[in-house]
Amino acid sequence: MPLHVVVLAAGQGKRMMSELPKVAHMAAGRPLIGWVLEAVHPLQPVSTVVVVGHGAERVNPHLPDGVVAAVQEEQLGTGHATRIGLAALRDIASDDTIMVLYGDMPLLGADLLRSLAGRPDDVAARMVTSVFDDPSGYGRVIRDHLGLVVAVVEERDCDDSQRSISEVNAGAYAFRGKDLFDALGAISNQNAQGEYYLTDVIGILADRGERLEPVEATPEEVVGINSQDQLSEASRLLQARTNRALMESGVWMLDPERTYIDDTVTVEPGARIYPGVHLEGSTTVAAGARVGPDVFAVDSVIGPGSTVWYSVLRGARVGADCEVGPYASLRPGTVLEREAKVGTFVETKNTTLGEKAKAPHLTYLGDATVGARSNIGAGSITCNYDGYEKHRTVIGEDVFVGSDTMLVAPVTLGDRAVTGAGSVITDNVAEGSLAVERNEQREIPGYSQRRAERHAAKKPED
Ligand code: UD1
Ligand code: CA
Repeated sequence: MPLHVVVLAAGQGKRMMSELPKVAHMAAGRPLIGWVLEAVHPLQPVSTVVVVGHGAERVNPHLPDGVVAAVQEEQLGTGHATRIGLAALRDIASDDTIMVLYGDMPLLGADLLRSLAGRPDDVAARMVTSVFDDPSGYGRVIRDHLGLVVAVVEERDCDDSQRSISEVNAGAYAFRGKDLFDALGAISNQNAQGEYYLTDVIGILADRGERLEPVEATPEEVVGINSQDQLSEASRLLQARTNRALMESGVWMLDPERTYIDDTVTVEPGARIYPGVHLEGSTTVAAGARVGPDVFAVDSVIGPGSTVWYSVLRGARVGADCEVGPYASLRPGTVLEREAKVGTFVETKNTTLGEKAKAPHLTYLGDATVGARSNIGAGSITCNYDGYEKHRTVIGEDVFVGSDTMLVAPVTLGDRAVTGAGSVITDNVAEGSLAVERNEQREIPGYSQRRAERHAAKKPED
């Protein structure tokens, strides 16, 4: 049966206490709406529409190509929103299946959606239900004496006996197209919230004697996010799911509960991840790499066999068998070639370190190229900024930069050049030359003794 999907995401989510529309909040690397669309994706629907409204400009950027946004100007209820979504569906036939999902259910699994979508011809609607220990806030599922679903009643419209029902409406449905169109035409807003409820469609179809099939799900899978603490709980569950999949694929993780890897990140089997690691965006970690403890990496590459620990990487590319940290900051445009090393308290930006080049301690390298096997002595810095513009430092191969060298850019050091410790290098240094820039050392013999005597001769203060 051809499948169409409508996701409702026009609400503000008042209980989030946030400017950001609810479905744009992030959980484990994707916005809530992104997780729902991700679960829908494998079903390959003919068309997918997301109904947006509140803060639409902050939801739209999260919609992938091929997903259509339909605008609900005023939030008059889930039934009203569904009508707007239907109007935007393409190539729809009356017997097609229309799945309606709420955009605040990030834990929906692809298996559950597949069983919803498998609605048999003679079933007017399948709907997901779940039994909750605490059903408060949810619509209750009403069944007759045969156990057939006859209606969904919103909590605010429940009488006492209905309120005591623990089976809730999860907010995920698959309808036969024509039945959904017909029944939506018959709903009203005569209820406690003055809204057009999509849930009334269930009662209408049951009254008409149509077959309805509940699909039961675990509470975990269908939890709707309405508050910050539910968001954090959902993030935890989504993260656990990502980590489990990574470990099943062969990634080693010391403590998955303290490992935060976005769903958009690639970690190859054979990588080892220590606690306190946050990997975000398009980051990739190759086999045999060791990451952590305590690494934050966004949009970065960590190559095979490399070790990165106690460090921050943003837009950096670390090649094979490199060493980064502890306490290094690799900023955008950093490239480390094979076996390069960036050590303790070193910051790099827009800088390439060639094969086996090293900056082991207390260094800033900005807008620099460091050739293969060159060594940057402790405390050395590229002075790349003159207060107006940035300038490049080019260091050749096998160069030895002495400790505490200031390289005032633009400046070039030829291959095998050497700089003396403490030098301020303002001119280019030719291949193989030594450049030293510092005053000659003066020595004053016996100074220390005379200083002590001077001090002892001073009268004590009264
Ligand atoms: C809804 C269900 C309830 C169910 C619960 C599950 C109805 C009437 N009630 O209640 O039975 O137990 O979800 O979580 O459907 N939305 C729009 N436009 C609107 C109103 C809502 O797009 O005019 C969107 C929201 O952005 C949200 C979704 O629909 O993503 C659900 O709306 P929400 O207000 O959270 O419904 P609940 O009160 O939780
Ligand atoms: Ca909700």
